[in-house]
Amino acid sequence: MRMIDQTALPLKLTYVTYRTPEQVADAIRTMVVRGAPAIGVAAAMGIALAAVRSRARRLPDLLKELDSSATLLKGTRPTAVNLFWGIDRVVAKARSAASVRGAKEAVTAEVRAMADEDVRVNRELGKAGASLIRDGDTILTQCNAGALATVGYGTVLGVVRAAVEQGKLVKVLVPETRPALQGARLTAFELVHDRIACTLIADTAVGYMMSQGRVDRAVVGADRITRDGYVFNKIGTYQEAVLAKRHGIPFHSAAPRSTFDLARTHDQVTIEERGAEELVEIRGKRIAPRGIPVANPAFDMTPPELVTSIITERGLVETPFDENIARLMS
Ligand code: MRU
Repeated sequence: MRMIDQTALPLKLTYVTYRTPEQVADAIRTMVVRGAPAIGVAAAMGIALAAVRSRARRLPDLLKELDSSATLLKGTRPTAVNLFWGIDRVVAKARSAASVRGAKEAVTAEVRAMADEDVRVNRELGKAGASLIRDGDTILTQCNAGALATVGYGTVLGVVRAAVEQGKLVKVLVPETRPALQGARLTAFELVHDRIACTLIADTAVGYMMSQGRVDRAVVGADRITRDGYVFNKIGTYQEAVLAKRHGIPFHSAAPRSTFDLARTHDQVTIEERGAEELVEIRGKRIAPRGIPVANPAFDMTPPELVTSIITERGLVETPFDENIARLMS
């Protein structure tokens, strides 16, 4: 399995190759690959690697090995539901096979289909979202929900790319997205690469930019959208939504159906807490006093009353979100 090392961007575009599910689990944990749809497909590929490498001769033995890889991969990051969706989808394929060989073939075929499907879905979602964008709009985002966060094209940046393909002049306001800087490093990299107009801002500048009429619309990604319409996304999203409400700016989440979690309501989701080093150090250099306690939630939760609509590959989902999410997923 070959992919871009996102920790090295934007300074170096390097590719890494993985051969085992353990290596893929490490890559997800350390954010070599990140973004909900990307980790969903990467984890599924981790299962495919386990299947292809297996020396099991009996189907139950192979299934046991896949289950243990699934447990390992599911333990890497708790918030993005796509991770669990991707793993369960390929393991189910193996379970419905009649032989070891059949299971190996089914798993590898499924993971390839998932990768192709992701790009197709993003293009459809992009088109649906682009209908909201007017010529000349400035779109505020958060984190990176681009090609890097998916298999290709992106969700939020898919909306931007589709609007640009329709000939609209679009500008993207890119908050740096501390502490891991997915905005400054990754979204900025994609937009500069594609020559799409963009401006980098400090996370703390969002409210001021809105107050100055310099934001027309906010479009953010999602790691999980629960059946009651709460949007879990990168830390900082909730405050963007509150500020958008204050300034009368439409606020959207762009997410494929694989990001919806019909099994849970918002109070049943684990928000990932990441290590203190992300805050007390900047790129390895200590900036905070030793001994300072640190809270580092990696995601937050935006309630449905702050969301104008959710952009999906099947069109826009609006209030009442609970009913309309159930319809979207049926
Ligand atoms: O911690 P990350 O970088 O994996 O967080 C990613 C996000 O919050 C994205 O907005 C989300 O996964 C959607 S990506 C299409």
